[in-house]
Formats: sequence, C-alpha cells, structure tokens
Amino acid sequence: MYTSMKDMLLHARDHQYAVMAVNVVNMEQVKACIESAVEEHSAVILNISPRQMIAHAYPQIMAPMVKHMAEQVCVPIALNIDHGVNMEDITQAIRCGYSSVMIDASSYDFEENIRRVSAVASLAHAKGISVEAELGHVGTAADGDGLNTDYYTDVAQAKEFVWRTGCDCLAVAIGTAHGSYPKNRIPRLDFDRLKELKSALTVPLVLHGGSGAGAENISKAVACGINKINVCTDLMNHAKESLLRTLKEDPDIQYMELNEALEESMKGFIKSYMRLIGSSGQYSFDAHTGPELD
Ligand code: 13P
Repeated sequence: MYTSMKDMLLHARDHQYAVMAVNVVNMEQVKACIESAVEEHSAVILNISPRQMIAHAYPQIMAPMVKHMAEQVCVPIALNIDHGVNMEDITQAIRCGYSSVMIDASSYDFEENIRRVSAVASLAHAKGISVEAELGHVGTAADGDGLNTDYYTDVAQAKEFVWRTGCDCLAVAIGTAHGSYPKNRIPRLDFDRLKELKSALTVPLVLHGGSGAGAENISKAVACGINKINVCTDLMNHAKESLLRTLKEDPDIQYMELNEALEESMKGFIKSYMRLIGSSGQYSFDAHTGPELD
C-alpha cells in the first residue's frame, strides 16, 4: 500500500512504537525494505536525500519503482524526500510521485524556518502529501554536533512551530547526529527534553541520526515518544560489509547471486531493527482481504 507518512505515524504514535525510515539508493535496497516490512507486518518509510537523488537514485526512476512495489503489498510504504532544503528539491519529488516530503530549514532562524515549512505544507497538503519539518538542528556526528546543546530543540518554540506551520511530524534534536560517531562514542540523549517535547506536542516526533546510537538509546527513545527513526549509515555499512564478505567467501559468485545475498543480508538488518523499535507485528492482513490496522 503506497501511502503518505501521516497515517502510519499517527498509528505509531497511538500505539507507542516507531517506524523505520531507511535511506535507499537502488532497487535492491527498496526490495529489501519492502520485503522486510511485509514479513514483519510492519510499515516502512523509504528516504532519499537530494544528494542521493542527484548522484545515483534518480527520482524519475525511484519513485515509480517504489510506488509499483508498494502497491503490490498490504503494509503501508511511504517514499519521503529526506532533508529537502529548497523548493526545487521538494517540487521535483512531488512531481515524480513521492508520497511525503521533509523540508529541512533548520539552519535558518525560527521565523524563516516557519515561513519555508508553511509554504511547503500548503503545497504538499493540497496533494495529500505529508510534511516533516525540523526544529533545532541535527548536525554531523563527526563534527561533534550532537554534543552542542545550543542545537537542541526548544520545547516552547516547538509548540509554536507546529501550530504555525501545520507540519505532520517534527524532527527534534536531542543529542543524535548524522553519520558515524568517533570510535567508541555512543551519544548521550536528552531524554528529559524528549519527554517534555512529547507532552507538549501531539504530532509524531522523529529521530534523525539513528546509526551508531546504540540499541539501548533507541529503545528508550521509542519508549519516550519517538515515532520515526532515520537510519542511513548503519545500513550502508552493513551492505558494504556483506558484499565484501560474500565476495571473499566465494570470489566466483555470479553478479545476480551476489545481489540476492546482499538483499537477504540487508533484510536481516532491517527486520531486527523493526523488532527493536516495535513496528513488527503492528499490521495484520490476509492476502485476500487486504490490510487491516491492529
Ligand atoms: P544516520 O546516517 O546517522 O543513520 O542518519 C540518517 C538520517 O538521519 C537521515 O536523515
């Protein structure tokens, strides 16, 4: 079922779990995510960033492919532009058939962030497309941005921001950051702030920079109210290691079999993450009657 993020995240909010949002750049990753979602009876969000769209995962190809695969299955699948920064990124994604958009204006000041998100919301909502925004700033792990509390989301501002923009879900900065953390560093998350954000807001909350955050932090973040978790680096690294391992074990393997082994390995990673964040088993369906919410 091809859908926006809105209803699946409201379901996650109401049932206190999180949906995985995975960055995907090719068919193998899309298949791995959708098959994992079906086998786990879970929703999943596929993220593609503007950089990924330009470098490799062309939206004109990815969006129809995702939509076609999603329409064959009985669990909710969304396609979201991840960190859309300017209007051109967003309109291109919408034109190509994305079901969801993120407008990341978090590096602008509060009023400009509101102005940009509101403009995207009026465009996207008219087409039934959901909108994710970011307040505070989730930076880069290698630069130590997660440690900078000046970037963390302010609770009172968040309340005003959601009310004035009409965004459907909000990415919050509470101590994670994008990419790999320096060796042996697991981020410390500000769970008190997360609890305050949760009680102040009704929109589903999003955690970026899921990679390297550690299972304990991730579980606690879900227990404290996170409903969408973005994961990119960990899956990309897992995929690369899987390819290297398979090639080492069997250097003569056929290319297609190499891809099949890769897909299976990525599915293992994705399915165990879905179990960790509680999205597994949230949707029951039978092949004839179609999807049914638990
Ligand atoms: P990681 O690469 O740290 O998992 O971050 C992914 C992300 O937040 C994409 O928006």
